[in-house]
Amino acid sequence: MSGELDSSIFSSHIICRETIDSTNDLAKRLAAEGAAEGTLILAEEQTGGKGRRGRTWHSPSGANLLFSVLLRPAVQADRVFALTMILVLGAMEAVRRQSGLSLNIKWPNDLYAGMKKLGGILTEFSARGREVDWVVLGLGLNVTWYPEELRAQATSILAETGITVSRNRLLVETLRIFEGYYREILAGNLDPFHRMWNEACFILGKEVFIDSEKERLAGKALRIDPDGALVLETREGAVRKIVAGDVSLRLKG
Ligand code: BTN
Repeated sequence: MSGELDSSIFSSHIICRETIDSTNDLAKRLAAEGAAEGTLILAEEQTGGKGRRGRTWHSPSGANLLFSVLLRPAVQADRVFALTMILVLGAMEAVRRQSGLSLNIKWPNDLYAGMKKLGGILTEFSARGREVDWVVLGLGLNVTWYPEELRAQATSILAETGITVSRNRLLVETLRIFEGYYREILAGNLDPFHRMWNEACFILGKEVFIDSEKERLAGKALRIDPDGALVLETREGAVRKIVAGDVSLRLKG
């Protein structure tokens, strides 16, 4: 596999594990020890796979794509979401090329096939002041398996298309596309990705509920700003910016 990533920033530090607690957690430990940009951690299975908001991410051994990458971008913290955006876009494009399946995005970090979740990204980072020190992006993509008890809400590439795509090809393609986009982001070219993201985000124009620890808001999702905030028009007519952080979003009805 590393041969196919030759000359990529992801080719020199690749860690593949049969079982791991969480690829994100190992990436964070390595980041704290000074690991290089581009460190890539892959696992067949996680014993403590994590989703957003303290949720668990379960996937049986060998069924799906589970990986994390460590980046050390010279950007400020308000650009971290752009990295989540381009990994979502890279994975979407890789899935389309490998299986023909068109996905869309549910803010802030989910990949959907129709109304069912097919994957998600967990972004964790550390900053000194406003400067980013490291970012870990972890992707879980349902290639052949999804939780049966969640069949109304979750799916896999296999379930959607009948095709068992190569996880290796999917990984290499995702990282290749991501890396091209990453170079653009580092050069300050966020606009095209921001536009693509808004176009693929199926919640826009819809009535949604946003739940946080503090409050529940209802309103219409207007757009996603470049820093990743959702702009919502509340029922009272106010326009609010919602930061992805610890909120959950549900479509109304
Ligand atoms: C979500 O949808 O809430 C995000 C899910 C992210 C799961 C991936 S699997 C690889 C990486 N390691 C983790 O522990 N989580 C991410």
